[in-house]
Amino acid sequence: MDEVARVVSTAFTLSNDLRRDTEVTILFGAEPAPRARRMRLDGRRLKFLNPDERSTAALLKNSLVRSAGVARDVEASPGLVVGPAEPLDALREFASTAGTIWLTETGGPISATDVVGGSFRAVLSDPTDPTAEEVTCLREAGASARSLGARSLRSSQCVDVLHHLADQAAPPGAAERSPVSD
Ligand SMILES: C[S@@+](CC[C@H](N)C(=O)[O-])C[C@H]1O[C@@H](n2cnc3c(N)ncnc32)[C@H](O)[C@@H]1O
Repeated sequence: MDEVARVVSTAFTLSNDLRRDTEVTILFGAEPAPRARRMRLDGRRLKFLNPDERSTAALLKNSLVRSAGVARDVEASPGLVVGPAEPLDALREFASTAGTIWLTETGGPISATDVVGGSFRAVLSDPTDPTAEEVTCLREAGASARSLGARSLRSSQCVDVLHHLADQAAPPGAAERSPVSD
């Protein structure tokens, strides 16, 4: 949960602001089947996300608790929806959208075409690499394997790198900024 909270924090928080154009989906595996959960966070409506990861972990954990045993999606907190899901089906559904990239150290190098217009859609795993079944699912869904370099990064660091590349592709507010003269 530590690293998941760090990923969520990295995905949404800026210095004194939130990335309102960002969405994060987290798949929590659990046995037996109905216990697995899909959590979706939508930056347009998200509230109560503070910069410290301890409170983010508490927000996620409390949302999971609210969803436990409930057979439908619940909005556990503004902009945060949790519900039952079959993780492999949910992964297939997510990765089937054209342009989805799958971050893996063994993929081809990431390039500007992966973040055209400053937008991207990416799958990454937690500290445990995807299972063989998940890898097959990602390949069959057509996700493009992309690497951020030879070094194995933390999941949250991958999010930072992706945001940086996307921000460079479409600098926020660039149109309004006047050029610096010397
Ligand atoms: C901590 S890593 C997973 C474990 C890692 N493979 C290891 O051996 O310790 C978490 C996830 O971040 C992504 N990731 C980490 N480094 C990456 C890189 N250099 N390029 C692309 N994705 C990376 C992958 O999705 C990876 O599964």
